[in-house]
Amino acid sequence: MAKTISIAIDGPAGAGKSTIAKRLAKELGFYYVDTGAIYRTVAYFLDLLGVSPKDADGVHRYIDELNIDIYYDETGLQHMLMNGIDVTNDIRTPDISQKASLVSAHGEVREMLLDMQRDVAKENNVIMDGRDIGTVVLPRADVKIFLTASAEVRAQRRFAELQAKGAKDTYAQVLKDLQQRDYQDSHREIAPLKQARDAVKVDTSDLDIDGVVAAIRQIVAQKVGI
Ligand code: DC
Repeated sequence: MAKTISIAIDGPAGAGKSTIAKRLAKELGFYYVDTGAIYRTVAYFLDLLGVSPKDADGVHRYIDELNIDIYYDETGLQHMLMNGIDVTNDIRTPDISQKASLVSAHGEVREMLLDMQRDVAKENNVIMDGRDIGTVVLPRADVKIFLTASAEVRAQRRFAELQAKGAKDTYAQVLKDLQQRDYQDSHREIAPLKQARDAVKVDTSDLDIDGVVAAIRQIVAQKVGI
């Protein structure tokens, strides 16, 4: 099998990872793997069962009953299947964002999802985004990007997205949730959010989407010549 190319994009919530990764994947003809969606699916499943994301015993008791599948439709959109049910849209709420952050701190959950993520990258050229892709999931990724922006800019982007969906959340609430998630994701014991030593940091605070895509294309071209 020919060697595959993997591009890891890590960073805090709202830095623009998924928007940028989707665009790059389309331009390069790579698969886009949104690993946050996998943690969200776990959180959604436990939530339906009434298990708190902080309850390690509850997580342990039910996690084996969850079967996760990922598939890509003809537009390249990643769909999440929870025991055969498509939950792609259901997992995109502020409540599930918080619960995914909490549930992702359990070593048992991270362990269970590791091979699933690595397997996709073994067989395909991928752009994978998350929190620990360059540090843990794909430590030998060909290109590693750490995408970030100020908390205020990230909250403003999230707020605009939520407003477009008709949600009632205030900017202050969105900022508070985001800061809490940043703290949880970067202070957990296992695979915390942090920049890999060999990752290139890209601050998107003052760049538009085209600017970020162009900056990353340049880094990719330098590292792997595509
Ligand atoms: O990227 P996202 O906002 O959809 O991720 C939701 C949560 O999942 C995030 O707050 C932390 C967790 N997560 C993780 O721990 N590791 C990843 N690689 C991706 C997400």
